[in-house]
Amino acid sequence: MRSLVLGAVLAALIPLSAQAQEAGDAAAGEKAFAPCKACHNFQKNGVGPDLKGVVGRKAGTYEGYNYSAALKNSGITWDEANLHEWLKNPKAKVPGTKMIFQGYSDDKKINDVIAYLKTQS
Ligand code: HEC
Repeated sequence: MRSLVLGAVLAALIPLSAQAQEAGDAAAGEKAFAPCKACHNFQKNGVGPDLKGVVGRKAGTYEGYNYSAALKNSGITWDEANLHEWLKNPKAKVPGTKMIFQGYSDDKKINDVIAYLKTQS
């Protein structure tokens, strides 16, 4: 009886741990963010806009940054799904953007970067 209950508990936990593995890893994301640092930080605008608190922010709205019209008028809010598409291929997501970055093909890397961005709120 006891092992039956244990089995049921384990069976319930396994899908949870599988999901946890798919979620981004912020520590790995910090490393994957290295190329972004050429243009972005979390303190001030540089070549690219300040990314502090970008997850959940409306695109093209960070104060004092001179965005392209394309991004400013995109109507995007940076939820995880939109960030994912953006980091996969910025030019496909927002034609006319001035972010010169070809994108990451690796979904895990993208999830990791997003997890890292979430820590910078
Ligand atoms: C060569 C410089 C450069 C690199 C490298 C770069 N970006 Fe950008 N990024 C920009 C510029 C410029 C913009 C503004 C684009 C516009 O106005 O069209 C931008 C915009 C963004 C935005 C939208 C911000 C907002 O306020 O709407 C996000 C999110 C972003 N970048 C994330 C990243 C991440 C994550 C990486 C690394 C994987 C990265 N960028 C790499 C230059 C860069």
